[in-house]
Amino acid sequence: MFGGTGDLMQRKILPTLDHLAGNQKLHVNFHILGVARDQAMDDAKFRAWGIEALKSSHGGDTDVDRAWCETRLHYQPVNDADPAAYAALAARIAELEQQLGLPGNRVIYLALPPGAFPGTIAALGEAGLNKSAGWTRLVIEKPFGHDLASARSLNTLVHQYFDEKQVYRIDHYLGKETVQNLLAFRFGNALFESVWNRDHVKSVQITVAEELGVESRAGYYETAGALRDMVQNHLTQLLTLTAMEAPAAFEADAIRFEKVKVLHSINPISDDAVVFGQYAASQDKRLAGYRHEPKVAPRSQTETFVALRLEIENWRWQGVPFYLRTGKRMARRVTEIAIHFRKPPVALFRSVNGDGPRTNALVITLQPDEGFELSFEVKAPGERYVLETQRMAFRYAEAFGALPDGYETLLMDVIEGDQTLFVHAAETEASWQLYTPLLEKKLKPHPYAAGSCGPKEADELGAACGTDWRTV
Ligand code: BG6
Repeated sequence: MFGGTGDLMQRKILPTLDHLAGNQKLHVNFHILGVARDQAMDDAKFRAWGIEALKSSHGGDTDVDRAWCETRLHYQPVNDADPAAYAALAARIAELEQQLGLPGNRVIYLALPPGAFPGTIAALGEAGLNKSAGWTRLVIEKPFGHDLASARSLNTLVHQYFDEKQVYRIDHYLGKETVQNLLAFRFGNALFESVWNRDHVKSVQITVAEELGVESRAGYYETAGALRDMVQNHLTQLLTLTAMEAPAAFEADAIRFEKVKVLHSINPISDDAVVFGQYAASQDKRLAGYRHEPKVAPRSQTETFVALRLEIENWRWQGVPFYLRTGKRMARRVTEIAIHFRKPPVALFRSVNGDGPRTNALVITLQPDEGFELSFEVKAPGERYVLETQRMAFRYAEAFGALPDGYETLLMDVIEGDQTLFVHAAETEASWQLYTPLLEKKLKPHPYAAGSCGPKEADELGAACGTDWRTV
């Protein structure tokens, strides 16, 4: 585990492994070797650190299994890409495997700042850690590159040492149960699949709105912005899963191939199809503007909001606008995909509001309050053919109770060797190819009040195609 004493390990990976181990999901003889720069750390201190991390993830000193940490956590320091340190690391792994009777099945997890990926991957390869007596799998956290050129060169470097079959690029959205359900929903129900096309769909809106601001992450966020942080990965995953064709088989490469095909069918994004925003103070001044957040440059031009319109130029979707929208400090937290269907060709009825009938919409809510809702028109009682919108709804919480954490799914898939929920090299490049020209334009963000629905310029984007954004 590279970044073995880092934030992700502390908050997510270790608690997830603890939970999996507690549920007997892991092999009885699994071990974790934490790798980090801290030279003063050793096995004993790492174990104490791990126990503290688990305690805080349990919200205090509750039922942390200390024995687990005492026997299975190990630590090895490395300096940045220093060949001697990597030779020592390789020797340490071989020694542990021998002592503990392990067959050499290894997951190498890189939870590192992006700048450390190239050096670490090359050093691993040079030290021969790209293969073992069993299997070796490489997990790479996001962000994978910061534009097309960097993503390409990172892929080239990875492939110099690792086969694509060994590589697991994480997008934590793919670990979400509701995101996986998109495939089940689409390809397990012929009912919806038959209307999932340009003949029946008027537009698609994908929204990932966050209530939180940048918090303490300005150091990273100032170099990223919403397009890199959210659109290039999470929203694009939602887009491709919504728009893809049925795969030839329910198998990793077949699914990922269909997703790449969608990306290759998207037209270049024109200037009038994108709006950047940056949150200013809230109207009541209780929430600070982005430029007043800690470590943000006073004249920062980093976008905290992006809205854009995409055109997928293929037989299924030609002429159907796909709207993507994400922002920090928006009115409420919601991730949803809304499919708006076409209206009846002839308006025989009025609606209760006096306008024509509304479009039917299928809204898939990915978080919070996971579920979906189909809206349709009914005759309002007592009135003479005046229509009113009603909804049929399904809620995960009612049907299934709590959903598992996405990292559990992803870690188990790495251990079991299933790449379906991981991003293929071709996907990373096709996605950066689409968005890199926008980054190069250095668009100025429009201000929007913290706690609002984003800048008014974004409303105009939808209105140009006769679509209003759904309220967040
Ligand atoms: C991360 C981004 O990848 O996703 C964050 O770096 C963002 O900026 C987060 O807040 C959102 O994830 P989720 O699962 O809370 O929707």
